[in-house]
Amino acid sequence: MALRTVITWGDPRLKTNSADVGEWTPELEQLVTDLFETGIEEEGVGIAAPQVGVNLNIAVIDPSSGENPSQKIVLINPEILRTEGSQVGQEGCLSIPGIHETLERPKKVWVKNRKRDGSWEELEGEDLLARAFCHEIDHLRGRLFVDYFGPVKRQIIQRKYNKMRSER
Ligand code: NI
Repeated sequence: MALRTVITWGDPRLKTNSADVGEWTPELEQLVTDLFETGIEEEGVGIAAPQVGVNLNIAVIDPSSGENPSQKIVLINPEILRTEGSQVGQEGCLSIPGIHETLERPKKVWVKNRKRDGSWEELEGEDLLARAFCHEIDHLRGRLFVDYFGPVKRQIIQRKYNKMRSER
């Protein structure tokens, strides 16, 4: 197991459309292990492979932040099938540390997901999990949660973020 370095807002690898995963390998299993460990260390609900500089369609979600292993979810080549309703709540990202903004997301989300053995499953998420599905799958498409805001708001967030970074 190893912690990996989380890349941050501005790094072009976060803006890249990631590639689908083929056959499951020990290297990919190691990546998943490292993602869980890195995400928990950073106290996040989820983390996507592009955030550690690997542009593959893999992300992990752990709503219990390491407290309950049965809640761990590994997303492989995931696709959102449909959504229902909406929720408004705070969102943050390990790649934009210190920034939390209110963002509307679907209340319920259904995801088509590949399992390690190559078969497919359908996952269902509500509330926090629905938000996490959307957030992590966005990462795989090169989209950050701040990209949902208009240019004016994004510039305000960018200034706040740069100021915090310079003070660190
Ligand atoms: Ni994120």
